[in-house]
Amino acid sequence: MNSLLDEAWRLEPFVPPFRFSAFFSPEDTLLCVCAADAARCRLHRATGERFPIAELTSGSGLVGLRLLTDDSRATLLGLDVDDEAVEVSDQNARALGLKDRCRFARSDLWSEKTLRLLETEQPGLLVCNPPYVPEPPGTTMQIEAGAGAHGTGHLLRTLELAQLVKPGALALSWCSLSDPAAIVVGAERSGYELTDLYVAVIADGDYSGSVHSYLRDLDNCYINEQPETLAIVASDGAARFAYLLFAGAFRREVGSWKREVLDGKRDVADYTSQCAEFVRQMCEDFARDGMRAFTEHAVPASRFPHPASRISCPLPASRLHRYLLSRWDELELRVMLHGALP
Ligand SMILES: C[S@@+](CC[C@H](N)C(=O)[O-])C[C@H]1O[C@@H](n2cnc3c(N)ncnc32)[C@H](O)[C@@H]1O
Repeated sequence: MNSLLDEAWRLEPFVPPFRFSAFFSPEDTLLCVCAADAARCRLHRATGERFPIAELTSGSGLVGLRLLTDDSRATLLGLDVDDEAVEVSDQNARALGLKDRCRFARSDLWSEKTLRLLETEQPGLLVCNPPYVPEPPGTTMQIEAGAGAHGTGHLLRTLELAQLVKPGALALSWCSLSDPAAIVVGAERSGYELTDLYVAVIADGDYSGSVHSYLRDLDNCYINEQPETLAIVASDGAARFAYLLFAGAFRREVGSWKREVLDGKRDVADYTSQCAEFVRQMCEDFARDGMRAFTEHAVPASRFPHPASRISCPLPASRLHRYLLSRWDELELRVMLHGALP
């Protein structure tokens, strides 16, 4: 299996003086960059046309700024609730010579202001790599990590906004800690079809590790605690569990199931998609069998032990990307982005 470090070249422009707001863990951002680039490439636009991109929960602005470096017609609106993020991303845009094509503003995902700004901007591509760690009721984690008791709130809000503003494509990142299939179903109900999926196995981090016992009891949370898997993801012996990070590119598409809902032949609440089922199954297999299951997802469905109950990957093989990011790889990525230690 490939290391996510194979994709690290995408982050090369983001070394000091590029700055990060709050605590920065690069793995989910890198995966989101991969999905955002795939989403951008799948959008067919007329030559010379302006290409507005909006990034929600934009933090340092990295994902959006990366897209601007690849597409000279792209413009960026970045929104984040954190004042420091707005200031830092603005400075980053200047340092990269991209300031004339982007602006950042402070705006809460749930505010009217965010909806108004998006309605005015009419983005062709909407990007969101939000906080995703489920928070035990009664506790509040740092703003860059905590995502409510269920862990999916920010993404479901992003999908609500997408349904209202209707960008041509989405790039989202999420994880196996909080109902991963619900994100794919939610996207489809909002009118978006998954076109590319990026998955990485990683070890728990500071935030996710701090809620380990809560995660164990959470419905639809998929983690693996087996020693063989932990030895692969964290040879330092310090991991409590491993989990899956996801990032997906989605294209706006009114599929046949949606037409049936519109025609009253099917109830939207009964809908579950093949892609969502595939994601759920991958997570269940990973929680049960760890790395072994994850590598087996590469083989055709008929070679699994229970072929009748299995769903083969609904995406072409070239659009399903699996990686491992071990603790050593994570360290290498951090050193690359934050600069070598003195
Ligand atoms: C995990 S960081 C990701 C930052 C950036 N997207 C990236 O990939 O580097 C999550 C970001 O979400 C922002 N955030 C958290 N809650 C928010 C909210 N309600 N509205 C807007 N932004 C929010 C945080 O300030 C933080 O910058």
